[in-house]
Amino acid sequence: MIKSIEQLDLAGKRVFIRVDFNVPLDKKTGAVKDEARIQAALSTIRYALSRKAKIILASHLGRPDGKEVPELSLEPAGAVLSRRLGQDVIFADDCVGDGVRKLASELREGQVLLLENLRFHAEEEKNDDEFSRQLAALCEVYVDDAFGTVHRAHASTVGMVKHVAQKGAGFLVASELKHLQPLLKGAPRPYLAILGGAKVSDKIKVIDQLLGRVDGLLIGGAMAYTFLAARGLPVGGSRVEKDKIDVARRILDRSKVEVMLPTDHVVAREAKGGVPVEVVQSIAEGMLGLDIGPATRALYREKIVGAQTIFWNGPMGLFEVPEFAAGTRAVAEALAEATRRGARTVVGGGDSAAAVAEMGLAGAVTHVSTGGGASLEFLEGRELPGVKVLEEP
Ligand code: 3PG
Repeated sequence: MIKSIEQLDLAGKRVFIRVDFNVPLDKKTGAVKDEARIQAALSTIRYALSRKAKIILASHLGRPDGKEVPELSLEPAGAVLSRRLGQDVIFADDCVGDGVRKLASELREGQVLLLENLRFHAEEEKNDDEFSRQLAALCEVYVDDAFGTVHRAHASTVGMVKHVAQKGAGFLVASELKHLQPLLKGAPRPYLAILGGAKVSDKIKVIDQLLGRVDGLLIGGAMAYTFLAARGLPVGGSRVEKDKIDVARRILDRSKVEVMLPTDHVVAREAKGGVPVEVVQSIAEGMLGLDIGPATRALYREKIVGAQTIFWNGPMGLFEVPEFAAGTRAVAEALAEATRRGARTVVGGGDSAAAVAEMGLAGAVTHVSTGGGASLEFLEGRELPGVKVLEEP
């Protein structure tokens, strides 16, 4: 059993909320480019405020590898949070140490303290016990609302939890689990998975697991070219993981359900905008496949709108460049249509979530997960350490 934040005694207590503010930043200005993850944590933060908690927020941002990297400071995220909450957010320039202890001990009910990037300390990712104890000493209640990070066994997601008197899940973690659980068991059929993105290597385990559960798998994105190469089809200069061709072949040969690959492609000589593009069935030498073509879009759309449960992770092409965005847009629109017809549609986090948001379709699907890696590991059927640690006997 995992306690919901509503079952915890928060009044007057220092409540440590592990959030996932690992947000994309604009390289030039340093501003937060997509606020979705901050938005997603607001209901838990607002609830804790309404219960008169003293709130301590902590997150990682990027992968600074235990070093202080000023560009990966959480300060810009704090500014967004302050604007969204409509109140001051106190920013601590570290996450442990005397200064932070003082700030935490002086917090008043209804105040919010945001700690600096946890990963500026190597001990965070090492799940170091001393570091975990220092984090735990800041608070009396632990709430995990960082769904995007529940697959990481780090000090702030696992190590510190046993040193805190009360623990539970925030609304975001609870809602993610509620929406993802049916994809593991009892999903209404037909059940379809759509996988895209750059690398087959990132998706092998989830493909293996999904093939035992779904009625069909649609493949797009750069990873499709490794599968096409495995079928012996020409891929020109497209991105192929040569060392994964055998694995792709094994997946295609052994699958008992239909695995669909693109039958036409949008190609160009260079992977950038402003260059001539063509639609082809067969990719010539020197050309790069950069999106699924119109015939594939139509085929995939038909499959998607006929399904009852759909999970989508990974764009169908280089969607950041308008010339190669049509495939990803077509899948997003088909998902929206399937949702209108009553299907349960879930978009895994990362690039596909960003694409759906950019296309203004986030509200048109059943659920957009805030966890990229976390939702995939969940679908692989793996135990998520950050969830397991919340369980009470
Ligand atoms: C994510 O963006 O998927 C999470 O914040 C986890 O980040 P990580 O892959 O760097 O651990």
